[in-house]
Amino acid sequence: MTASIIDGKLHAARLRARITEETARLRAAYDLVPGLATVLVGNDPASEVYVRNKNKTAESVGFRSVHRHLSADAGEAEVLAEVRALNADRAVHGILVQLPLPKQIREQAVLDTLDPAKDVDALTPTNAGLLLSGRARLVSCTPAGVMMLLKETLGPIAGLDVVVIGRSLLFGKPAAQLLLAANATVTMAHSKTRDLPGLIGRSDILVAAIGKPEFVQGSWVKPGSTVIDVGINRIDVDGKTRLVGDVQYAAAAERAAHITPVPGGVGAMTIVCLMRNTLIAAAAQAGVAVEI
Ligand code: GUN
Repeated sequence: MTASIIDGKLHAARLRARITEETARLRAAYDLVPGLATVLVGNDPASEVYVRNKNKTAESVGFRSVHRHLSADAGEAEVLAEVRALNADRAVHGILVQLPLPKQIREQAVLDTLDPAKDVDALTPTNAGLLLSGRARLVSCTPAGVMMLLKETLGPIAGLDVVVIGRSLLFGKPAAQLLLAANATVTMAHSKTRDLPGLIGRSDILVAAIGKPEFVQGSWVKPGSTVIDVGINRIDVDGKTRLVGDVQYAAAAERAAHITPVPGGVGAMTIVCLMRNTLIAAAAQAGVAVEI
């Protein structure tokens, strides 16, 4: 069997077109222009690329985009002051503080300061709690993107066995909650899990968010399953940088029925889901309805 490729770029382009249309409607009807603020502390090259893409995409769908770049040695007080200023800025509806932060800044202090209404990454305790309660309005971008790809590919996933590898606040935990809400039987695996190959071999859906290049061997994958690879790992091949996922793509594609490529799979959805969250946040703050 050779898996069909889940085309994240195609799904992302469709969602982006809907967001662009809805943004134009909000502007015409209410003079409302969604505003997204990004905050980057330091000069991590990968983070710089991500943040630049977020700002560019925001502008391309018709949002206002602002960027705050603080130096790598910025103190926590400086970062918190920036977040408070953005919280108070009525033209800013969504705030994204790029992670990871330099070690002198406590991530928790930043998230505790961020206005949950503007928390378009859904990382604040309020939004994490709302997700657990089944009342989330803003959902973390990558898990939301994964759910959309699964829905488009498989339709209902009720009763399916899913393994999520990785338990981060940004991905694994919210992804497991969304899958559970869709009535899947969810197992969360992590670095201490015993017999990962056995677990993967029994799973109808594998969601890998480990951060280790090609860690999951193709031979572990259950025949006929769906493989969602959340990893974006930079590796050096003959002096050139190449992006690979957490799964051995070619070998896994021999066994799976559906698989996401890296790049062009999950990553393509993440940024558009961030735009969706910003639109939802803007509409909520303005007290108007949005169809997205
Ligand atoms: N770092 C890696 N991915 C993300 C993300 O989705 N949001 C934020 N804020 N930081 C990240």
